[in-house]
Amino acid sequence: MKFFENASGRESDICKLFGNVFAEAEGAEEGKLIGQLSRDLLRETASGDLHTFYAIDKENVVAAIMFSRMVFNQDDRDVFVLGPVAVATARQGEGIGQSLISFGLKTLAQAGVEVALTYGDPKFYSRVGFKPITEEDVAAPFKLQYPFGWLGQSLTATPLTSIKGSSRCVTAMGKPIYW
Ligand SMILES: CC(C)(COP(=O)(O)OP(=O)(O)OC[C@H]1O[C@@H](n2cnc3c(N)ncnc32)[C@H](O)[C@@H]1OP(=O)(O)O)[C@@H](O)C(=O)NCCC(=O)NCCS
Repeated sequence: MKFFENASGRESDICKLFGNVFAEAEGAEEGKLIGQLSRDLLRETASGDLHTFYAIDKENVVAAIMFSRMVFNQDDRDVFVLGPVAVATARQGEGIGQSLISFGLKTLAQAGVEVALTYGDPKFYSRVGFKPITEEDVAAPFKLQYPFGWLGQSLTATPLTSIKGSSRCVTAMGKPIYW
């Protein structure tokens, strides 16, 4: 298995993976929603504001993750939010998700990204360095439906401190339903 950055040439496989995995995990509607989110992210996001990583095994895309930029109006740190994240249903539980996320975080850190955020299950994401944060310390772009799923980590030697100001995500992520 090999990990790659940049979706170019694999866009359709990556979006299909997101649609299928979420349909199988959470139902047809969620599959459609997350499939569309991945297409919107790839189509609408400036290249400097999106990092896509994926895993290939025997010519097939078996996992994919996306990080998109978040901007805070009183803090100039370089911040990216992770999501969506998907591992092919038949390949879950093999460690692929954790390995691909770790690969992505390391690549972002090397590129100078200072903070990674995500919004998901703390039990899973704590395995790749994420810790709970509050909306007071790090504003979310929309009021969170599940504040306990708001997570962050520093990608530098300095521990994560409060990020000042209100936040803005990329256009594709700018729908309350994702938060
Ligand atoms: C969640 C997901 C990305 C994890 O990837 P994965 O490759 O299956 O996970 P890994 O093999 O690296 O890690 C497995 C461990 O994480 C745990 N884990 C996996 N999914 C989990 C979840 N949704 N919540 C909590 N723990 C989870 C497993 O129990 C396992 O723990 P164990 O080693 O003690 O048995 C993958 O299962 C998936 O794509 N699920 C459907 C889509 C989804 O929920 N995406 C994330 C949205 S936030």
